[in-house]
Amino acid sequence: EPRSSPARRILLMGPPGVGKGTQAKRLAGSIGVPAISTGDLFREQVTLGTPLGLEVDALIHAGKYVPDDIVNSVVAERLARPDAAGGFILDGYPRTLEQVIQLENTLTLLGTALDAALLLSVGETQIRERLAERARVEGRLDDTPEVIRIRLNTYEVQTAPLAKAFDARGILHRVFGEGTPDEVAGRISRSLGVTERASWRVD
Ligand code: AP5
Repeated sequence: EPRSSPARRILLMGPPGVGKGTQAKRLAGSIGVPAISTGDLFREQVTLGTPLGLEVDALIHAGKYVPDDIVNSVVAERLARPDAAGGFILDGYPRTLEQVIQLENTLTLLGTALDAALLLSVGETQIRERLAERARVEGRLDDTPEVIRIRLNTYEVQTAPLAKAFDARGILHRVFGEGTPDEVAGRISRSLGVTERASWRVD
């Protein structure tokens, strides 16, 4: 049974490999809302070979951001689906100021607003280790050293500065992302005041 919690409309931000996807899925399970990952949505389209997939394929493999109008319309469509009416965890969106503005417009139109923005941080050495390991295990094509460098740089230039906007709105939660996934999940839950689902707990 998902437990009620004050925060149900949450976004996760942080550099590549920081654990956004891992933690978004867990948090979504605890709260009982869908985890929405723009990266996963795009990779799915690439696998399916849809026109959208063909359009974003080269950008993703080069570590470059997909244009705002494409990302914004994909997310607006996803947020309008019934399962997101009671809340959602956004993983990897928004990443540009244009996307922040569009997200706020979309939520206003839906009669709601963001409750929290979680900023995960992990040292760069560990980020490189995590992504190198994933390249070995899963073979994700954007996990090569050169593309990782581009992704980290793009994040620092385009996305990291957005944390200030969420801080100014009083909804920014900074969470240290090193340690085991359980430890990180515990920090996130405490920061948000969310009760973790018993099935996720190891202690
Ligand atoms: P996306 O898929 O979002 O990639 P990313 O931001 O680079 O993030 P990652 O998926 O690499 O890492 P993560 O933080 O989710 O960490 P994870 O949990 O996987 O986006 C891909 C591309 O799509 C972008 O480059 C861009 O082209 C495009 N795109 C997406 N959104 C966009 C947007 N809004 N605007 C424009 N373009 C967009 O963990 C990483 C690894 O570490 C995993 O193997 C995991 O198992 C492991 N791990 C996790 N936690 C721990 C831990 N505590 N200890 C040890 N290992 C851990």
